[in-house]
Amino acid sequence: MIPPISRRQFVATAASFAASTFIPRSLRASSASATERVVIRTDSEIGVVRPEFHGHFIEHLGSCVYGGLWVGKDSRIPNINGYRKHAVEYLQELGVPVFRWPGGCFADDYHWRDGIGPKRPRSVNIHWGEYVEDNSFGTYEFIGLCRLLNAEPYLAGNVGSSTPHELRDWIEYCNYPSGSTLSDERAANGSPEPFRVRYWGVGNESWGCGGNMRPEEYARLYRDFAVYCRNFGGTDLYLVASGPSGNDSHWSRGLMDGLGWERPQGMSMHYYSGAADRSTSFTQGHMQEQFASYAKVEEAIVHQRAVLDSYERGKQIGLILDEWGVWDDIPEEDEKRYGKLWQQSTMRSAIAAGLGLNIFNRQADKLCMCNIAQMVNVLQSLLLTDGATGEHCIRTTTYYAFSLFKAHRTKTAVRLESESASPNGVSVSASKSDKELVVTFVNPHHDLDLEMECTLKGAAVSEGTAQILHDTDWNACNSFDQPDRIVPKPWTVRVEGSKVQLDLPRLSLVTAIVPIH
Ligand code: AHR
Repeated sequence: MIPPISRRQFVATAASFAASTFIPRSLRASSASATERVVIRTDSEIGVVRPEFHGHFIEHLGSCVYGGLWVGKDSRIPNINGYRKHAVEYLQELGVPVFRWPGGCFADDYHWRDGIGPKRPRSVNIHWGEYVEDNSFGTYEFIGLCRLLNAEPYLAGNVGSSTPHELRDWIEYCNYPSGSTLSDERAANGSPEPFRVRYWGVGNESWGCGGNMRPEEYARLYRDFAVYCRNFGGTDLYLVASGPSGNDSHWSRGLMDGLGWERPQGMSMHYYSGAADRSTSFTQGHMQEQFASYAKVEEAIVHQRAVLDSYERGKQIGLILDEWGVWDDIPEEDEKRYGKLWQQSTMRSAIAAGLGLNIFNRQADKLCMCNIAQMVNVLQSLLLTDGATGEHCIRTTTYYAFSLFKAHRTKTAVRLESESASPNGVSVSASKSDKELVVTFVNPHHDLDLEMECTLKGAAVSEGTAQILHDTDWNACNSFDQPDRIVPKPWTVRVEGSKVQLDLPRLSLVTAIVPIH
């Protein structure tokens, strides 16, 4: 838990906590409503809200890829060249800035040649159930999906069970324009144009499923691999080293020490918010515990950035939250029916997503990219299908939480000030362009409605619109029977001069968009 801090400290540590506004402890018990005041400092910028903060991740796991996104061209499920049509349409509407594949743990047992060309071997997915993987979804299919979604591809290379040569060849296959055997093979397989893949993960969770290494062992391997990764065809590579689990600075320091002169462009960290309850039957206590973990996520981002910054060459390394989200207890029945790690997304999950996305805005100067785990049918997904063969495809509460943050993309996050501090309080973030201010409020309380009173410093306003995502039942969700139970709805925002006011019911996310002059 982060201890409460004084107002002076609060303003001084602006980048860490600046955009948070919290509820005093005394108001959190059983009272039904309260007023919370916050100052929005449009004159105090944090950094750009990179669209990549809203990035995604898919793995060959359960029904994420097969049946979730990829149904094959001959499927009775409506598809666009094999990609599930409804999923593509929903994702196009949301916008997918960046897209990581093929894992996860799967990446460190993946051999890219298995997934190219007309003849694909059948391999065994040792991480996720030892099923026979037919490799029908490979590099070409992944890049095709990225192109449909206008997303930047991010390939996770195999370090744990592969060689520098294998990764180097994958890069040549993808990016070398033409004339080499590998680039000609790509052309023969349907793509004369290079894929121009910029983001490359050099291993995944190398401290665990990606090789069970010590940081110095991984650092040594990273150097071996990175030296052969080249900017073929003028595509500047952005290499991502496998970083810590959560806030483990023993790993990140060991990695930095072991890298010597070698400097990756990015370092990934993974941070899941676990829980003992099943998604649709959370107790109030476990829900609050899960929400409280987001203070730890924020702390980890601040701390890991500081670790990188403590090395001269670390200052230029981007911090990437490569896997994040809620990881609930998953019932075996659901896994059997719909696929491994298939998890419902409830009103609680949407609040959790909002807490995370607000953190990314607040820490915009410390982060480079954040990818939620995972896009479809696995963990905190944005879309759910009724298994690999089901025809339903619904948008989860998490999808809608992301949609409420879309207006922040490319804007500049600004600081906020508040009088009180509590790790479980209401969470706020704000960003601005020349023309408008976007503010997102998240009320994680199950028993406290709030009235938000915001004072703007540095801007005047006269009108505004807002949208709310809300349900008083934290276990409520969108289901195949009721796909639109929780969807964003218009909400009233009162705007005048330097004041923005709105009601923020218990368990709600609200985004207000206010033209500024
Ligand atoms: O997202 C599921 C798994 O969680 C990934 O495969 C792995 O990287 C992490 O442990």
